[in-house]
Amino acid sequence: MGRANKVVLAYSGGVDTSVCIPYLKQEWGIQEVITLAADLGQGDELEPIRQKAIQSGASQSLVVDAKDSFVKDYAFPALQANTLYENRYPLSTALARPLIAKLLVEAAEQYGADAVAHGCTGKGNDQVRFDVSIAALNPNLKVLAPAREWGMSREETIAYGERFGIPAPVKKKSPYSIDRNLLGRSIEAGPLEDPWTEPLEEIYVMTKAIADTPDEPEYVEIGFEKGIPTSLKGEAIAPVQLLQQLNQLAGNHGVGRIDMLENRLVGIKSREIYEVPALWVLIQAHRDLESLTLTADVTHYKRGIEETFSQLIYNGLWYSPLKAALDAFIQQTQERVTGTVRVKLFKGNAAIVGRRSDKSLYTPDLATYGADDKFDHQAAEGFIYVWGLPTRIWSQQGRG
Ligand code: ARG
Repeated sequence: MGRANKVVLAYSGGVDTSVCIPYLKQEWGIQEVITLAADLGQGDELEPIRQKAIQSGASQSLVVDAKDSFVKDYAFPALQANTLYENRYPLSTALARPLIAKLLVEAAEQYGADAVAHGCTGKGNDQVRFDVSIAALNPNLKVLAPAREWGMSREETIAYGERFGIPAPVKKKSPYSIDRNLLGRSIEAGPLEDPWTEPLEEIYVMTKAIADTPDEPEYVEIGFEKGIPTSLKGEAIAPVQLLQQLNQLAGNHGVGRIDMLENRLVGIKSREIYEVPALWVLIQAHRDLESLTLTADVTHYKRGIEETFSQLIYNGLWYSPLKAALDAFIQQTQERVTGTVRVKLFKGNAAIVGRRSDKSLYTPDLATYGADDKFDHQAAEGFIYVWGLPTRIWSQQGRG
């Protein structure tokens, strides 16, 4: 008896996930492996990947275009919460995991599989995100992670694959570990493991080096409705196209590079480079529009919620009761976050240089220092007396 009968495996077309197919069958006695490759805008051609799974022994090879849902159901809700893990990482990789988990679970239910599998190792965050998301969506499914247990080196993995007709990679393997999707790229390992070493220019694909960016700034207007970006440069645009075009525009000006040392959930500090051109600009723009349309107390309170929201996405709790509760809060705050933000892209910066909204709470009559000032200056005195009263009493008490 194997560990399961029929398994749906998250499949990328790489050596590791390909080797998972014969490994699950030969070593763990699984009768049938169905693979699932999700298109999240990583730019890979999917037909060769679909075929490779069959050649590697899969009984069926599923390919799902999930780009639209990725942006609408995962990236945009995170944007509404301005999520930045440890204040910097916009969760571009982390957000893909609950979606892939959902696709795996749906396929398992459709094809009558009793387990799902993924190729994550035991050191990263992604295994946590998959396992917990799958458990949340269908606690009866087993989760298999062969690469977490097989203990094979890279050479051994390739040799194992060759025994089952999985060709060794033709290109010499890059020293980097790279994850890519529509939201950005995550790059780690190789020379980046030394946190003192500056990343080589060769690692970047979506963003230009400042030395190569245009010498003229470029202005981009982004329109939002209830916290969701819906127009670019004055034209209505669909979610996926918005991300694609803004990645181009911002990447061309070198916007969206992040070099950070982060705290993984599994206790390890790791050095990761991100390039997230569009998402970076969208977060700056969205946050700015909130400063125009939210009251002070909501703005301030929301910052704490955003921090928690970022952590729970990073830590694999997308499908959790806390996430659902915070969703309700965030959605409520977005009711009036409608308007347009003007962004100046130049030499690695996305500066917000203008914002306007029909829902604006900015009151020129009150803010002005000019003659048409409507603010009641007399009222300030009484307010300050009451506001400062506890401090005044505290000071007097201290003097005896
Ligand atoms: N550190 C990021 C996260 O946990 C990215 C993980 C994948 N990175 C990679 N280079 N393969 O979300």
